[in-house]
Formats: sequence, structure tokens, C-alpha cells
Amino acid sequence: MKLPVHRWFRYSAGFSAEWTKFLIAANSSKKTKILDPFAGSGTTLVSSNEMDVTSFGYETHPFVNRIAKVKLNHNPNIKKLTKLFNHVITDKSKSRFLYENQPELLRKCYTEDTLKELVNFKYRFDTINDGSIESELVWLIITSILRITSHVGTAQWQYVLPNKTKTNKQTPQFAMEKKFNEIVQDLEFFQNKNIKELGQIKNHDARKIDNELKNKIDMVITSPPYPNNFDYADSTRLEMIFWGEISGWSELQSKVRTFLIRSCSQHTAAERLKLPDLLSQKEISPIQENLEEVCFELERVRKDHGGKKTYHTMIAAYYLDLAKTLRSLRHSLKEGGKMCFVIGDSAPYGVYAPADQWIGKLAIAAGFNNWEFEKTRDRNIKWKNRKHTVPLKEGRLWIYG
Ligand SMILES: C[S@@+](CC[C@H](N)C(=O)[O-])C[C@H]1O[C@@H](n2cnc3c(N)ncnc32)[C@H](O)[C@@H]1O
Repeated sequence: MKLPVHRWFRYSAGFSAEWTKFLIAANSSKKTKILDPFAGSGTTLVSSNEMDVTSFGYETHPFVNRIAKVKLNHNPNIKKLTKLFNHVITDKSKSRFLYENQPELLRKCYTEDTLKELVNFKYRFDTINDGSIESELVWLIITSILRITSHVGTAQWQYVLPNKTKTNKQTPQFAMEKKFNEIVQDLEFFQNKNIKELGQIKNHDARKIDNELKNKIDMVITSPPYPNNFDYADSTRLEMIFWGEISGWSELQSKVRTFLIRSCSQHTAAERLKLPDLLSQKEISPIQENLEEVCFELERVRKDHGGKKTYHTMIAAYYLDLAKTLRSLRHSLKEGGKMCFVIGDSAPYGVYAPADQWIGKLAIAAGFNNWEFEKTRDRNIKWKNRKHTVPLKEGRLWIYG
């Protein structure tokens, strides 16, 4: 998070920008084309730009896709950006603000004065928003200060915890100026180095075939969602409510989750999925026996847990979605290409699901030649208050085609 442009937004990334650059340097030439099918905030694509290599990314979370798009423009007009930013921060125009009328989550996260200031920034942003990259950067600046200006528990890109307080809160004015200066400094750095905008982010679902990229890709570098119940939709609830893109929690399903890999139980509960329907899909036949065993066990043990989470359908839907993703990637990757998936396994309710083995098997069934797993760290071994004691691991799954 110290690197230029990468530091504009802290996101649940799964890998470091330095590592992606290292990987790209070791595996590419000028003609190489890289794909990140779960691009998130665009780490792989920004790194590819820095290495002068063409790249593509898919990101179906509308809000995260917008962030990645902004980060992939290195040549905005800094004079225009400064003018727009100064208007938002110094203009005297104000929105008609009534604290009581603000959404509940915002009232829980901000004092009246702070929220008033933030809402005024949004109001003035609406008056200068011309869809240009410069106004998109002002949008990013306002978005990126929403957590640091809140006095409650809002670790970046985690769920909001209104009952926790934080000490390192910044004032909106200070946070805006700090972020603006950082962005201008990074843009000047990229422009001086003449870094080209070779990366392209698409709003394409990784599970679907992309005919535009058929046989075009030399290497895939990615970190898919893990089947660990992290809710990517909920992690942007504060920002999306602030910008009026959703009115509350319930809209997260229709406006965000529905486009994503099913990696959290809220998603599969909302879809009211039936286990037999999922397990009978042909795409998961290579792991069906083991998957069935795990899912039936999850269905059995959920009755003993208060939350009765739908982990049984979550695990089945997750591997079905990854099977589909691997088939679409086989279509895009050239013969002889390779893929690096940063993955982690999971054990919901203490029932272990071996991600490396299962994704590896699904990859072979999708038409890849072989795979190997390189462990980078152990997980779930340190904490005393963990929900289960199954040791987990994280690492790189290399798939060769
Ligand atoms: C672990 S994050 C990747 C973060 C990324 N490495 C970065 O640098 O920001 C996984 C991403 O996959 C996205 N995603 C989930 N389902 C998807 C799908 N079906 N197609 C494309 N992207 C998807 C999520 O929204 C999330 O941003």
C-alpha cells in the first residue's frame, strides 16, 4: 500500500503489487497478454502497465470495477483535476442537509458535522461531474476518505462495526487534501516514466466465455474470492449507501452479489439453492464424490449451529462457479500458457474443503494439462478465539495448459 497508484485504494487483494510485477517480469515479453479474471481494484493490470505489458481484467462488482477503471488512467489533465477538486473543497454551495433524513448506517458512522461536510462534497461533486477521468478521480478521492473520517470501526474494505470506535480518525478536509496530493504525486510519477495505459478492465463475468479473448492470453494471474464467507457486496455497503447506489442491506443481493462468484452463505441463502440441483451439474462431476461428502456433512452439522448458515450450498455453488470459470479460461488461454491462482482453503463449521485439490481436478477436467500447489502460509493456527481448529493454508496454484 505504499506503491504509487496501488495505494489509492486499500482492497481485499489477496496479493501484493510487488509480487505481481516480479511474476510478470519473469514470464513476459513485449507481446505477452495477461488476464486477471477477478481483477478487483486492478493490481495485476496496474502492474502490467508498469511492466509495459498488455493486460485484461474482469470485475463484475460495479463499484469495484469503477475504482479499477479510475486507477488505469495515467494521463488525466492535472490542471483540470486541480480545478475540479478545488471547487468541491472550497465552493460555498451547500446541500439541504437534515441529519435525521440521512440513511441509518451513515448516522451510525458519522457525527452530524462530519456527515454534513461529506454530503456537501458529494453535492458539489454532482455539479462538476462530467464523466471525465478528472471528475472520476474526484469521485475516488471522496470515496477513499469515507472510512478514515468515521469514528466507528470501519477498517478499509471490511464490514462496518458501528459499536467499535477508532482513534485515528481524520477530518474530511484534511483527508481530502492528503489523498489529492498523493494522487497528483503518483500521476506525475507515472507520467514522467511514460507508463502507458495498456490495461483494460471489463465488466465481464469470469464464469462466462469471452469470445473477444479466444486463444489470446499467455498468462493468467489472479486471486479469486475464497470460499470463506467474506461478503464482497457487504464490504462496500458504506460507500454504496453514501453515493445513493443502494438504499440498504437488502439491495446488495440484486445490485451486487448476483454478479459474483457464490462465496458467502448470504448469497446462497438469498438464491434459495437446493443441494441436489447443484451437485447434479455436470461441471462438478470430477470432484462430485468428495464434494457430496463435505456438503452432506455441512447440511447435517448446520442444525447444531444457531446461525444455521447455508454453507452446504455455498461450498457446492462455489466449486460449480469455479468449474465454469476454468472452462472459460481454457477458451482464452493459448496452448502452453500458464495460470497462477492465489487461493486459500476453508473449513466452515470445521468441515474441511481442500481448495487446491478440487480446483486442480476441475482444471484438468476443463482441459488443462497439469497443476501444482506452492504453499505460502499457514492460516488459522495462531488465534485463540477461532471458530474451529482445522489448520488451513494459502498459496499459489499453478495450472499449466
Ligand atoms: C480477491 S478479490 C481480487 C482482488 C484483486 N487481486 C485486487 O488487486 O484488488 C476477488 C474479486 O473478484 C470479483 N468477482 C467475484 N465474482 C466475479 C465474477 N463472476 N466475475 C468477475 N469478477 C468477480 C470480486 O468482486 C472481487 O473484487
